[in-house]
Amino acid sequence: AAMSGATLARERKDLRQQEAEAAEQESKVDLSSQWHDPMANPDSRQFASDLRNSKNNAGKSEGVPEWRRAVASKDQPLGKRTSMSMKEQKESLPVFAFKDQLIKAIKGNQILIVVGETGSGKTTQLTQYLDEAGFSNDGMIGCTQPRRVAAMSVAKRVAEEVGCELGREVGYTIRFEDKTSPSTRIKYMTDGMLEREILIDPDVRRYSVIMLDEAHERTISTDVLFALLKKTLKRRPDLKIIVTSATLDADKFSEYFNQCPIFTIPGRTFPVEILYSREPESDYLDAALVTIMQIHLTEPSGDILLFLTGQEEIDTSCEILYERMKALGPNVPELIICPIYSSLPTEVQSRVFDPAPPGARKVVIATNIAETSITIDGIYYVVDPGFVKQNSYDPKLGMDSLIVVPISQAQANQRAGRAGRTGPGKCFRLYTEAAYNSELLPTTPPEIQRQNLSHVILMLKAMGINDLLHFDFMDPPPTNTMLEALETLYALSALDDEGLLTRLGRKMADFPMEPAMAKVLIYSVDIGCSDEIMTIVAMMNMPTIFYRPKEKQTLADQKKAKFHDPHGDHLTFLNVYNGWKQSGYSSPWCFENFIQFRSMKRSKDVRDQLLKIFQRYRHPIISCGRDTQKVRQALCSGFFRNAARKDPQEGYKTLVEGTPVYLHPSSALFGKQAEWVIYSTLVLTVKEYMHCTTSIEPKWLVDAAPTFFKVAPTDKLSKRKKAERIQPLYNKFATEDDWRLSAQRRGGRG
Ligand code: CDP
Ligand code: MG
Repeated sequence: AAMSGATLARERKDLRQQEAEAAEQESKVDLSSQWHDPMANPDSRQFASDLRNSKNNAGKSEGVPEWRRAVASKDQPLGKRTSMSMKEQKESLPVFAFKDQLIKAIKGNQILIVVGETGSGKTTQLTQYLDEAGFSNDGMIGCTQPRRVAAMSVAKRVAEEVGCELGREVGYTIRFEDKTSPSTRIKYMTDGMLEREILIDPDVRRYSVIMLDEAHERTISTDVLFALLKKTLKRRPDLKIIVTSATLDADKFSEYFNQCPIFTIPGRTFPVEILYSREPESDYLDAALVTIMQIHLTEPSGDILLFLTGQEEIDTSCEILYERMKALGPNVPELIICPIYSSLPTEVQSRVFDPAPPGARKVVIATNIAETSITIDGIYYVVDPGFVKQNSYDPKLGMDSLIVVPISQAQANQRAGRAGRTGPGKCFRLYTEAAYNSELLPTTPPEIQRQNLSHVILMLKAMGINDLLHFDFMDPPPTNTMLEALETLYALSALDDEGLLTRLGRKMADFPMEPAMAKVLIYSVDIGCSDEIMTIVAMMNMPTIFYRPKEKQTLADQKKAKFHDPHGDHLTFLNVYNGWKQSGYSSPWCFENFIQFRSMKRSKDVRDQLLKIFQRYRHPIISCGRDTQKVRQALCSGFFRNAARKDPQEGYKTLVEGTPVYLHPSSALFGKQAEWVIYSTLVLTVKEYMHCTTSIEPKWLVDAAPTFFKVAPTDKLSKRKKAERIQPLYNKFATEDDWRLSAQRRGGRG
């Protein structure tokens, strides 16, 4: 491995050269030696002609080694995965041989831990076995997933296997989307959704079995479900819990669940050769793409899986790869480029499962969703830059933010393992062996130890669990994190002085979202703008609304500017939505205005779901008409922590920490002189940009969060200063002296 590692970097350089030459002189490239003669078959001149809609060309299988040909059989109809029948496929999975034993073990134990390699059939098969064994006669078979995409794609797959329409006997529920019906027997859902169901029915009477899948991911919701269901089991001796994991931390699970038995499904994997970079990569994205081209042009057939950190990176890479392939001309085999991340529409997502036509190679570019929750067959090469985007709580900003961090050794090994499912594979690690050994942590700490817990705590409080310090967490979160979350909830008025849930707090818990957002929704009812806020909140849930293609940026910006509201981006969202509504929710209207139709449609779905929650809890829907100041005030009621003030030098400074932050050039407020603003999130790129910003009056902050902000003592202030005397209050128990200290510290900035 070390030898290969040493040559990898050099080869990469060679390849760059090769590409450059190829771009100039297409005809001179001769890489056909290990492939069939591409010129002999005009079909092979087709390349990934359209990223999102590549064509299938059948009929070429020469050059595909025999042992790999089975993976992509040549005479299968488009869209069908392999030539095996569904039944054969199901029976070929490792879990199949253990069907009877598994059912017996489940019948004999209230809790069972099931361990098995990714792809062995736990998620898709176990639920079906349970259904066949009659468990669904007494209630649904529920299966939780840490990720939305996994819940949807697995449900789709199982519906196909069962032969029913998705949403009938097999369905799924994710936030703001319920695809189940009264006839649903197998239900996939995100772990967060089951948490919400427990809030309504702590005994989960609708279920006979609950499978906590992908438990090794240790999301906050899964961790909370562990503890909640452990309690439920005592009240419901008939309920079965299955905890599945792809890794070998099962002993810990077993110990936590009263020494319950562990069922191990023996793996069936092939060796994977690991290749390291010789030197650290300065640009992992570039290194990754070069490696992919290298594999494509020099390695025997077999699909490639590349792990990147997020949508933007993935989209960019797809474009670059596409361009590079185009530059290589028609003399190289086709490369089918398949992106996969959670916000892709389902149709595009399911394309990654289609095998590449013979002669072509597929490259799947994924977030770490492909690490364990989704298995794509036919992968022989894994390219692993070693990074992942992680949600982490930033105590300085008082909020969660997504940051790119190195993966753990366990993740690296899991990623590599993806190359050895169908045959012996290779994993290209774009970091050095030394880095693997000394810089990567052995495992990732569970989410509950690194994220903001205010949402979870609000929910637990709403379930009547008050003694959080003694709650039966598998790994209790740090006390500080817990206290901070309590403080946040207190500042939002969701908890009272004694830490007990207020009536407002209880209402907030009914909304499946961050407490700040829930507060805005409820406050909007009191102030009389719930109609508008509902729209804005739905729009804030979308990653992107506006479309800004490279060649038409100016035009796109002009179109966008028409929607700009002088008070900022939230009201701009409202203008866009209302415009779209007036057009009769039209798709051409979106196209015309450079707006993403898909995001709009989804906002409408989310809005409809919010409307249902409002109706269920009898919150009136009131419009403020032209009085949109109310909307801005309502936003302050939840996002007061994200307040910033214009800095005399440049940009803004946050009120809480005095961190320099900037208006994003795309903001409706850009170039305007808004003195005080609030924002939804901070986006870290070159600078710390405020994302989604609205101008406010400072006194709204004090109205919104009297326990958080305090009006500074007036005697020492000039008249001008009196108008701006808002100071954040960190600690409600702080003495007057602490106050002056912090006021002085901040006062230094002038
Ligand atoms: O849960 P586990 O990782 O053990 O395996 P699984 O997700 O049940 O996957 C079993 C098989 O179903 C794999 O070979 C997948 O390729 C296939 N599958 C699929 O074709 N489409 C999906 N959406 C999910 C799984
Ligand atoms: Mg699974």
